[in-house]
Amino acid sequence: MAGDPKRIVAEGYDAIAGRYATWQKGVAGSPRMRFLDRLLALLPRDAAVLELGCGAGVASTRILAERARLTGVDISGEQIRRARERVPSASFVQADMVELELPPASFDAVVAFYVFTHVPRAELPTLLERVHAWLRPRGFLLATFGASESAEGVQIDWLGVPMFFSSFDADENRALLRDAGFELLENEVVTQDELEEGEARFLWVLAQKPG
Ligand SMILES: C[S@@+](CC[C@H](N)C(=O)[O-])C[C@H]1O[C@@H](n2cnc3c(N)ncnc32)[C@H](O)[C@@H]1O
Repeated sequence: MAGDPKRIVAEGYDAIAGRYATWQKGVAGSPRMRFLDRLLALLPRDAAVLELGCGAGVASTRILAERARLTGVDISGEQIRRARERVPSASFVQADMVELELPPASFDAVVAFYVFTHVPRAELPTLLERVHAWLRPRGFLLATFGASESAEGVQIDWLGVPMFFSSFDADENRALLRDAGFELLENEVVTQDELEEGEARFLWVLAQKPG
């Protein structure tokens, strides 16, 4: 279906993988490495980690693969191709994470940087419940959520392609996480500078599945 959000996202990242990688290098003010360090300090030895919307194998994915047994998932075939090339020690799967079938209680942490803002809002509550089920008791979720407004739709020209974006506001995202069974260890709204796109606000969350 031409207007299918998943198809728009997959075809979009297939087309702009190179341009997105260059654009991302200019984004300033992301707290990604600070939150990643916090997670790494909490992970057990020989941890199993799942990265949702892993993208093309950026620095945080490489660090996770050095520290843990990493499985990356992305809906874009081109992003997965790049990730396999850059991070050969991890396993990668091309899939829609919402449709993913994984054994329950099989990961010590799930990481999702800048991907939940591409998921149709109607699907996010179920996805969070599934992430909760994939985690072992006391497992962690480190994720970026939208923070500014509750909306979804297609931006006609984002880095040269149509792109589907979605968001709940920060309070709604916190409520969804608690409803899914998570305890919020840290949550912080951070504004980053996205060059010609202007400023963007995201909710950063480190959450835990109770033991
Ligand atoms: C903004 S990029 C972020 C990539 C990477 N996490 C990073 O921080 O560089 C979003 C990524 O999520 C992927 N993605 C979006 N929706 C997805 C879905 N439903 N299932 C799996 N991957 C998805 C896209 O293909 C893209 O690679």
